[in-house]
Amino acid sequence: MSKIIIIYSTTDGHTREICLRLLNIIENSNHQVTLISIENAYQIDLNTFDKIVIGASIRYGKHSPKVYDFINNNMQALNSKSNAFFSVNVVARKPEKNQADTNPYLRKFLLQIPWKPKQLAVFAGKIDYQKYNLFDRYMIRMIMWITKGPTHPETNVDFTDWEQVKKFALLICKM
Ligand SMILES: Cc1cc2nc3c(=O)[nH]c(=O)nc-3n(C[C@H](O)[C@H](O)[C@H](O)COP(=O)(O)O)c2cc1C
Repeated sequence: MSKIIIIYSTTDGHTREICLRLLNIIENSNHQVTLISIENAYQIDLNTFDKIVIGASIRYGKHSPKVYDFINNNMQALNSKSNAFFSVNVVARKPEKNQADTNPYLRKFLLQIPWKPKQLAVFAGKIDYQKYNLFDRYMIRMIMWITKGPTHPETNVDFTDWEQVKKFALLICKM
């Protein structure tokens, strides 16, 4: 049995949803999982875990600055454990951009951080226009129009490939 911590950075909660699915599958494989937001993860001693997983969503082309800060502040712990990182964004709904080496946000991110995660994943996120404020709704609808995605203001669509999430959970168990 391994002790695993999953740390998430989310704005609208979808990355946490993905983490909950990971937790469920990993716990069913008889490992112990702690799920915590990146804001609260500073209170935890990472050295008490065998494996560290970080998941973060993209907003306006970037992961949150909190993700960079957390990684920079915990390099020693990250490098001394089995570890993994995953990114959540809607560009990953496109088959040609849904892998770690083909997703532009993840590729760029990896060049900006000192950490080299041992396992990587990219998951397509969610669009729920009614949840966003007017500015965000307008901007995301524009981006969707440009990238040939759904633009109807009532759109609430989950692009996540949950089978892919399951495979990543099993990979975390094995790593
Ligand atoms: C304001 C806003 C900006 C976003 N910007 C991008 C973006 O630049 N590229 C992208 O692929 N997805 C973008 N997304 C899509 C999010 O990555 C997607 O909705 C994801 O599921 C959000 O995860 P979260 O709920 O954990 O924050 C954006 C979403 C919102 C609401």
